[in-house]
Amino acid sequence: MSPDARILTRLRRAGDAGVAVSDLGSLVPDDATGLTARIGALRQLGYDIASTAHGGYVLRSGPDRLHADDLISRLPDRRRIGRSIQVFQETSSTNDVVERLARDGVEEGAVVLAESQTRGRGRMGRRWESPSGCGLWFSVLLRPRIPLTAATQLTVMAAVAAARAIGQASGLEPEIKWPNDLHLRGRKCGGILLELGAESDQIHHVILGMGIDVNLSASEIPTQLRSIATSLSLESGRRIDRPALAARLLEELDLAYHDVLEGRFGTIVDEWERRCTTLGRWVSIRVGPREIHGLAEALDEQGALLLRTEHGRLERIIGGEVSLLSAGPSS
Ligand code: BTN
Repeated sequence: MSPDARILTRLRRAGDAGVAVSDLGSLVPDDATGLTARIGALRQLGYDIASTAHGGYVLRSGPDRLHADDLISRLPDRRRIGRSIQVFQETSSTNDVVERLARDGVEEGAVVLAESQTRGRGRMGRRWESPSGCGLWFSVLLRPRIPLTAATQLTVMAAVAAARAIGQASGLEPEIKWPNDLHLRGRKCGGILLELGAESDQIHHVILGMGIDVNLSASEIPTQLRSIATSLSLESGRRIDRPALAARLLEELDLAYHDVLEGRFGTIVDEWERRCTTLGRWVSIRVGPREIHGLAEALDEQGALLLRTEHGRLERIIGGEVSLLSAGPSS
């Protein structure tokens, strides 16, 4: 951990009581001068660190910016996800950066966030708008020892983790639209893009990319998407603390991923089913050139959607573009 991450960790833990200089001094390589320099640098970054009456320091607030040291200081108990964190002011796509980390053999749990992306991508080769400073655009490197056929479990666990974190940070109750969309009042506020490196049925690595429209104003949502997209601030009527949400998200992802690896995917499915707007609905799913209509009945143990087709057959769908239909086939 860097000295700044250690200082922020200690200040956060102490809360309003603050921390004595003597306790903080031991966290930096270079005595009290080093500490003064680090506190000055953190203030420059926008951290409101006040001096206490007893000659210590107290953290009053932080900036609406993502900083790796700050995120690390908020995640003291992480198991895997968040072991290393990098923040870019701008990059092409955080999935591309994590792809390079994967090829370099970096261990799982590495997280890359960007304030903005110039070539953010969504599913089906779509562009993902990633304006600066108002969303969460990030990717996580995973190396799960699960069969390729179970990879959909990771999308499901990520959607549940994101819904939990958004709920806690904003008081909103996001719904999940299978397989990977997060919705608020019927409009999309986030999505997940899973990219896999695999050989035959063996997963080498997974890049879990997530985009959340946090504080986008109506004008920051592209005109053609305004009827189907929204942001957390538009729905809650207030600005959301992005660094706090980012930390919650990483924490929830870490917990849910641990559950998947420990064989507790079933508990995640239960929650997913409660939050999912797709189940029990008549849907049309485009899978490549095929368009399948049916009733979305359940999720199986691998995370695939079980669809009862209009002909009564049960189809297992592992990916596709879902549209909710207002009614089933007329009898
Ligand atoms: C979708 O709903 O189509 C998935 C969107 C995923 C967007 C995120 S933003 C961070 C990461 N980097 C990308 O280029 N895409 C994902």
